[in-house]
Amino acid sequence: MMGNTFGRLFRVTTCGESYGGGFRKSLDIPKELYGGLITIVDGVPPGITITPELLQGELDKRKPGLSALSTPRKEEDRVYIFSGVMENNLTTGAPIGIIIPNTDIEDRHIEQHRANKDFIRPGQASYTYYKKYGRFADWAGAGRASGRETAARVAAGAVAKAVLDLMGIDVIAYVTESHGIKAGHITYEMAKANYRKNELNCPDLEKAKEMIEDLLEVKAAGDSCGGVVEIIAKGVPAGLGEPVFDKLSATIAHGLMSIGGVKGIEFGEGFKHAAMKGSEANDTPWYDEETKRVRFRTNKAGGLLGGITTGEEIRIRAAVKPTPTIMLEQETVNIRHRKNVVHRFTSRSDPSLCPRIYPVCEAMVRIALLDAIYMAKAYESVINNIVPGWDML
Ligand SMILES: Cc1cc2nc3c(=O)[nH]c(=O)nc-3n(C[C@H](O)[C@H](O)[C@H](O)COP(=O)(O)O)c2cc1C
Repeated sequence: MMGNTFGRLFRVTTCGESYGGGFRKSLDIPKELYGGLITIVDGVPPGITITPELLQGELDKRKPGLSALSTPRKEEDRVYIFSGVMENNLTTGAPIGIIIPNTDIEDRHIEQHRANKDFIRPGQASYTYYKKYGRFADWAGAGRASGRETAARVAAGAVAKAVLDLMGIDVIAYVTESHGIKAGHITYEMAKANYRKNELNCPDLEKAKEMIEDLLEVKAAGDSCGGVVEIIAKGVPAGLGEPVFDKLSATIAHGLMSIGGVKGIEFGEGFKHAAMKGSEANDTPWYDEETKRVRFRTNKAGGLLGGITTGEEIRIRAAVKPTPTIMLEQETVNIRHRKNVVHRFTSRSDPSLCPRIYPVCEAMVRIALLDAIYMAKAYESVINNIVPGWDML
């Protein structure tokens, strides 16, 4: 399987599955090493404080079983730092190895998945995994396509956060829409003030009540629904991003679209641009004497032009599809018997991915941003040395 690394200079590699280890339980293997997730984060500067608590704080945001809106799975998501950090929790500059064991791997849950393994799970990656990996495809809890894999990314995102914090760059994600119920406009200040104040992490506290009530009804009916996660990156300097194939907008979209269940990305006014005139869409630049910076009166572009940051806040929206596994009967195919059937899947699932996906969005944007900073700094350090006085603004 390829494609398990993200980033160029700040690089994150993950491995692990939902039920990995459930098949290798034995007395000579310590419980924590049956299986789980591993993250390797390369490109971390030396001298950064990375504690297990710091990683745990981020991981706890996406942990299942926290509310009535999330799956009853009880994954502990306990994080262990394995390498790259020495005395006083300071990084050495070596790759950071992180291990998150799978502790919720009861045999009866594996048997539930075994009982369903011949049925294509609608909306899940089961059909495509069978096409690609044939009879060796992991059938227990979606394998690498499982939401569980995202815990490994969140751990890596926490490392990126520790570095970005020192640069004054903040990334925050929250839910703005659920099953068509929309929050009002959310400012950065509002998002900070109302962060995680409800089970859905929607900063519009009134609308959140409506969304949660609706979600509980959807859950009671055995169904699921989708929503929108918005992400703001604040304090990002102008000039980050490599034009053409590695536009920062493209690498951020790459990171976010790699999260299971994310079906669309917009920057700033996004798809609304299609209905605008140029005079409506263009953000007017102005020179701020005080900060000696070019600013923009509006930010319909969402903080990026030509794939390079403008210095305004980056605002991204991710469309999240309804959780594929639902408790209702669905038409599908029994691949062993090559028969059209009606089947009800019995495994545990969330009525909405939104309450658990926003920390994963934060993580992927942080990783993409830190990588872009490394790229920009590498370029600038060369050009500054050979062409003094090149920058105009
Ligand atoms: C945090 C998180 C939790 C998820 N939990 C579930 C789940 O409980 N049940 C399910 O069917 N899909 C779940 N998914 C979604 C699947 O991973 C995803 O829909 C599937 O891999 C298909 O990929 P695609 O939707 O991007 O095409 C979850 C995704 C994330 C990010």
